[in-house]
Amino acid sequence: MADELAPGPAGEPTAGAPLAPASGAVPVVRPLTPADVPAVAALERELFERSAWPEVMIREELDAFGRYYVGIDDEAGLAAYAGSWFDGDVSQVMTLAVSTRAQHRGWGRALLRTLLDRARSDRAQALFLEVRVDNEPAIALYRSEGFEILTRRRRYYQPEDVDAWTMRLEL
Ligand SMILES: CC(C)(COP(=O)(O)OP(=O)(O)OC[C@H]1O[C@@H](n2cnc3c(N)ncnc32)[C@H](O)[C@@H]1OP(=O)(O)O)[C@@H](O)C(=O)NCCC(=O)NCCS
Repeated sequence: MADELAPGPAGEPTAGAPLAPASGAVPVVRPLTPADVPAVAALERELFERSAWPEVMIREELDAFGRYYVGIDDEAGLAAYAGSWFDGDVSQVMTLAVSTRAQHRGWGRALLRTLLDRARSDRAQALFLEVRVDNEPAIALYRSEGFEILTRRRRYYQPEDVDAWTMRLEL
């Protein structure tokens, strides 16, 4: 399955081999389906609080043009998910989230690499994302995969009223 990737010799994802994260069990990355909407909404509330996407928005998002959504399950159900949007030119990370119960196992990196692999197979020119300027774990993850800060977007996150970095990885 194209969703299962492993770092190649130069640290690049290689299709066709099991993904080997830095630590923890090898995760199975699978496509999200409409049946995952309630679980995604629960994780949104856990991780993003006032910015959480409601179920109706998640459902629309999964159906929207050019979207690619994947997740990882643990024994309790959906534990991590991520999604991207390819517009025919570039790709954008729409979300990336790992439940607190499943963090620090390499699953965030595994999902990000799955989105990267998809963007490459789509022949996107670059992968973009926004991240809160105070989200040090996520910024560290993105930098370690080669993303660079492009610009600061003032008051991007509402209602929190927090700035975002736009980051870009040329593909
Ligand atoms: C950011 C997030 C996705 C990372 O997921 P994760 O599965 O815990 O991350 P991984 O185990 O794959 O770690 C990958 C890298 O992230 C960075 N990282 C993760 N947690 C970190 C922390 N607490 N502090 C600093 N860096 C951290 C490190 O660079 C780490 O690499 P390393 O283990 O080699 O040091 C997760 O913390 C999360 O979902 N947070 C809440 C939602 C969120 O902020 N999403 C991003 C929106 S832009």
